[in-house]
Amino acid sequence: MSQLLPTILAIESSCDETSASVIRNGKVLNNVIASQAVHQQHGGVVPELASRAHQQNILQVVNDAMTQCGIKKEELNAIAFTRGPGLMGSLLVGVSFAKGMALALDLPLIEVNHMEAHVLAHFIDEPRPQFPFLCLTVSGGHTQIVLVKEYLLMEVLGQTQDDAVGEAFDKAAKMMGLPYPGGPLIDKFAQLGNANAFTFSQTSMPNLDFSFSGIKTAFLYFLRDRKKEDENFVEKNLNDICASLQHHLVQMLMQKLKRAVRQTDINQIAIAGGVAANSGLRNTLTKTAQELNWKIYIPEFQYCTDNAAMIAMAAHYKFLAGKFCGMDVAPIPNLGVGV
Ligand code: KG4
Ligand code: ZN
Repeated sequence: MSQLLPTILAIESSCDETSASVIRNGKVLNNVIASQAVHQQHGGVVPELASRAHQQNILQVVNDAMTQCGIKKEELNAIAFTRGPGLMGSLLVGVSFAKGMALALDLPLIEVNHMEAHVLAHFIDEPRPQFPFLCLTVSGGHTQIVLVKEYLLMEVLGQTQDDAVGEAFDKAAKMMGLPYPGGPLIDKFAQLGNANAFTFSQTSMPNLDFSFSGIKTAFLYFLRDRKKEDENFVEKNLNDICASLQHHLVQMLMQKLKRAVRQTDINQIAIAGGVAANSGLRNTLTKTAQELNWKIYIPEFQYCTDNAAMIAMAAHYKFLAGKFCGMDVAPIPNLGVGV
């Protein structure tokens, strides 16, 4: 097995995207993703349906990734998979598939932390951040400010104590009757609205921690009260409501990010995770970076939401560091960063 040219197949199955990617010598060759439309009608991810859909999709997704890049199974040096955090049943599908392949091909296994992989998505393409940098990781399940000291050395400086910001976007969208996932729709309507039209109260947290449950409840009562006055309130004001809510959520993220910069004196800032695709966050971050002289890194859209390319990137660095795992490895639904 060549130390210099590892070729790795990576599998991601933590939530509702089944994805596979092949990486050769640190270069991501592809990123095949099968999204699960089945959850739309339920207004959120249904764990049992997610694991069944992974089971149905995984063979095809892995086959497509291998065929697309023209690399034979025999040329692989390792199989990587997401160990956690994520949904137990979904993780189990990826872990079991990876183990089966590793066993059949007599290859080593590499376990990857999904949240660390979101951060390492920044190393797929240029420009790559310099260490140390701060990463705001914002997804449907997590909201964290991570101090990234090295590829495989990260420390969580602050995180949400209840809901994730992506969940706040999705739940608010659901309250307005929008389909799941509502985050991208709120983003779309927000671009046409007035961000100062409405205000919502929010919970403030000490240090670098976040809380999004307060604003979610405030939004629920706001809609209830306004609908009493006019039952078509949402339809008539959709753009302004979305713009105002998005503005609040982005400000909550930016406030903590600014504080983290002051505390650490690090002004290299990256954003990662599904909510990093939000145009309001991207624009505000770009403006703040100009004002405060930050150097910012925003990943390509396909590497923001869940994907196996980021798992492959993390696996590449783990391979170089000789960090493999045994066949007895099990998924960890609440796996933390830096543990
Ligand atoms: O990272 P991700 O694909 O999956 C998790 O690990 O959770 O993130 C999914 C989350 C969802 O909550 C989705 O609504 C949100 O990212 N999202 C967005 C946007 N695109 C995806 N939220 C706001 N604006 C967007 N443009
Ligand atoms: Zn994710």
